[in-house]
Amino acid sequence: MPDLRSAPHASAVAIDNVWWRSAAIYQLYVRSFADSDGDGIGDLTGVRTRLSYLADLGIDAIWFNPWYPSPMSDAGYDISDYRDIEPAFGTLADADALIAEAHDLGIRIIIDVVPNHGSDRHPWFRAALATAPGSAERDRFWFRPGRGPDGALPPNGWQSIFGGPAWTRVTEPDGSAGEWYLHLFAPEQPDYNWSNPEVRAEFDDVLRFWFDRGADGIRIDSAALLAKDAALPEIGPDAPPGPHHPYSDRDDVHEIYRRWRAVADEYGGRVLIGEIWIPDAVRLARYVGPGELHTVFNFPYLSCPWDAAELRAVIDNTLALNAPAAAPATWVLSNHDVDRIVSRLGRADTAFDLQRRSYFHSLPVDLALGTRRARAAALLTMALPGSVYIYQGEELGLWEVQDIPPGLRQDPIWRRSNGADPGRDGSRVPLPWAGQAAPFGFSPAEGCGRPWLPQPARWRELTVEAQAGGAGSMLNLYRAALHIRRSEPALGDGSMTWLAAADGVLAFDRGARVRCAVNLSRRPAPLPDNAGLLVASGPLDGGLLPPDCAVWLRSPL
Ligand code: NOJ
Repeated sequence: MPDLRSAPHASAVAIDNVWWRSAAIYQLYVRSFADSDGDGIGDLTGVRTRLSYLADLGIDAIWFNPWYPSPMSDAGYDISDYRDIEPAFGTLADADALIAEAHDLGIRIIIDVVPNHGSDRHPWFRAALATAPGSAERDRFWFRPGRGPDGALPPNGWQSIFGGPAWTRVTEPDGSAGEWYLHLFAPEQPDYNWSNPEVRAEFDDVLRFWFDRGADGIRIDSAALLAKDAALPEIGPDAPPGPHHPYSDRDDVHEIYRRWRAVADEYGGRVLIGEIWIPDAVRLARYVGPGELHTVFNFPYLSCPWDAAELRAVIDNTLALNAPAAAPATWVLSNHDVDRIVSRLGRADTAFDLQRRSYFHSLPVDLALGTRRARAAALLTMALPGSVYIYQGEELGLWEVQDIPPGLRQDPIWRRSNGADPGRDGSRVPLPWAGQAAPFGFSPAEGCGRPWLPQPARWRELTVEAQAGGAGSMLNLYRAALHIRRSEPALGDGSMTWLAAADGVLAFDRGARVRCAVNLSRRPAPLPDNAGLLVASGPLDGGLLPPDCAVWLRSPL
């Protein structure tokens, strides 16, 4: 029998070891959620004071972006201590209190663990720099001599995902120009060497540290990148991830997750969620199932244009690929790395691709159209079988802020591309809670530090306060849908059945009682047979479903 250790505060959440198969998970970006002390940066006390907002919204779990001590070279994805809380966000005692209070409200907590790389301020990396080439301390990372007579050229031509070379040269303790170290992201994020047993043991311990404190799940950052070919061969720019790639989606990465699953299984009801951006859906499915991860993010769905046939194909593929492992699908419309859904769906090209952000930002945005579609997309997404992620602010209909002044931008992607890529700051702007002017209740009062990124003046129309009473607001649409989703047993985990529908219309049944229809065409469409309306994303047109509108219906008897 495994030792099913109970978490200190687990008693308040219902005992349900498969909660993650149906859960509505709110992605909380701490820095931009709520600032309790007026320094312009969100914090854990801010979250604690707003937990009732999240409970009212009807979510089942919160995924926190990294909350650890960090120099913030990549917004916390550069961790200098995996067992503590970033001082700007609070303390470990705040995190303990937050976990307990969330559990008391029936909300589970998922934290973000970043195993591919640490911070250049992490004690391990400081120790590596202080020791000579070949040391045990350096073997936890990827240190290599440079090429060329003076070692002045990087060990290979790999490029960083954030732009520029993936190698940085160090100065040795004696002052001489020395070895190079690998960083697939920014230079401040050195990659760990996962073939080193100390690295493996360290992360087992980090997982246990947080599971013991009551974390219910782990979101695994950059999960496909950990295993590397120690020969560090050159790669072409278009080399596909997979067994022959030197670092992306190699077969040996799966050993790591089998080990992590064994740790998670020492506890009850803990979930491992992989962040894996690989195009090959068959290979993606290899990460889920018994003995490995519980779920993976569904990036094909997140990147899919607003097109009925394409969405249907992505939905079918997702379900087919998860089926053999009996893993639940996940449905994600946006996150802190991509454009906000209102803006994406308000453009002439409604797809998204991380590599082409500047192209998407060059297209005009029709906010009214984008909002209408985002409402319909929300109902579609929350009706699909499996779990759903809601990135903070989507429930308010926030848009991508594309006009942040260059001097205020923080994303390393912006800096490292010399502004050629606008980066991700536009989806990370602090939430508007109340009032007529910035900081819109994000910080306690005017006169405090300004929010770390500027909020658009027009967000006065989108504050929680402004939307709370409006029956037609985005906030109330999310609340209504999440509450119905929770009360209808057929929603969440389970199966779906497509219904015949007009061109450009998606219609499907969830069990015998709930039916969803979404009109992505340009013409009003007949509603499927039904015994009443549960919720609509917009006004119906005399019994017809208008373009860019979705409904949940009670199925006919
Ligand atoms: C994925 C995270 O979502 C992103 O924000 C981060 O920059 C990279 N991984 C590197 O950790």
